[in-house]
Amino acid sequence: MSESLNPLQRAIKLCAEDMKRVNACIADNLQSDIMMIPAIGHYIVGSGGKRLRPLLCLLIARLFNYTGDRHIPLAVVIEFIHTASLLHDDVVDSSDQRRGSPSANGVWGNQASVLVGDYLFSRAFQMMVRDDDMHMLRLMSDVTNALAEGEVLQLSRTFHLEMTLRESLEVIERKTAVLFAAAGEVGAHISGESAQVVRNMSEYGMCLGVAFQLMDDALDYVARTADAGKPVGHDLEEGKITLPLIHAMQQDAALRQRVEAIAERGCYADDDRNWVRQRVVQAGGVEATMQQAEAYAQRAVTLLPTHGDGELLALLAELARFSARRAY
Ligand code: IPE
Ligand code: IPE
Ligand code: MG
Ligand code: MG
Repeated sequence: MSESLNPLQRAIKLCAEDMKRVNACIADNLQSDIMMIPAIGHYIVGSGGKRLRPLLCLLIARLFNYTGDRHIPLAVVIEFIHTASLLHDDVVDSSDQRRGSPSANGVWGNQASVLVGDYLFSRAFQMMVRDDDMHMLRLMSDVTNALAEGEVLQLSRTFHLEMTLRESLEVIERKTAVLFAAAGEVGAHISGESAQVVRNMSEYGMCLGVAFQLMDDALDYVARTADAGKPVGHDLEEGKITLPLIHAMQQDAALRQRVEAIAERGCYADDDRNWVRQRVVQAGGVEATMQQAEAYAQRAVTLLPTHGDGELLALLAELARFSARRAY
């Protein structure tokens, strides 16, 4: 396989057949006679997205030699839950761009985004009922519940400058990493792996997911909008005190003061965005966050099985590291 492709591109190539089925299953499940549902559904799903979560589910099922069909709808369930959370997240974060296009709320408005997000959540549960496995239903209902808790917890900490590392990781685990953990668990569970292996793959997903969100938080301070496909320098503007900022404020008193002023006003003024971005980088906040992401990625790698298809195992290890090093 070509070495010039990054691990995500290699995963897409390796799972091309399954991904075709995933995309067909997505289209099937976006059908509704309420026209706005397929319209918004296709708009957001068709605008791209890395598809990392369903890919993990497919790769892990393949690693454990799964031969059935359940991995396809279950991968779609995971992508639907992710997509629904993005529709809601962009409303909550007043974000006007997603995946390089105007966000759904920017095009159809907040009400439509929230309601179609609800539709996708409920469709995911209909699909799981069809799958008819109480283990999956319990897992996914716990995941969506944790996701909602994570978002509410984050909201309740808006402009909370005393946010600790622990609290910040708590938000990350719930709002993002649990869904990656589920992607890891699904692939192992449907393949009939032992409880210990299922737990390990869940933990692999969890660690990869924490690394992924830490990197997302770092990219908010260093990426360009064109690469991120969404607004950057936006987290603090929305009152999100993420790890790069927490680290940097510990090193830089002037930065802390300026952030206090922003928190008091509740919004950026003048050149706040660029000034803060620069200082967070200079004070080592991005570097420290990336190191933390790297540590989570390393831990994810240790949870992979020691035996099995070497190419797949290497790819899963690289996907964990990619999550901590990605530029998009
Ligand atoms: C965005 O997730 C939300 C986070 C958890 C940071 P992705 O970066 O996976 O979004 P898409 O699906 O590729 O657009
Ligand atoms: C992740 O947080 C959002 C969800 C898990 C829904 P962010 O708010 O950082 O995600 P982006 O940056 O908008 O993609
Ligand atoms: Mg957001
Ligand atoms: Mg973000």
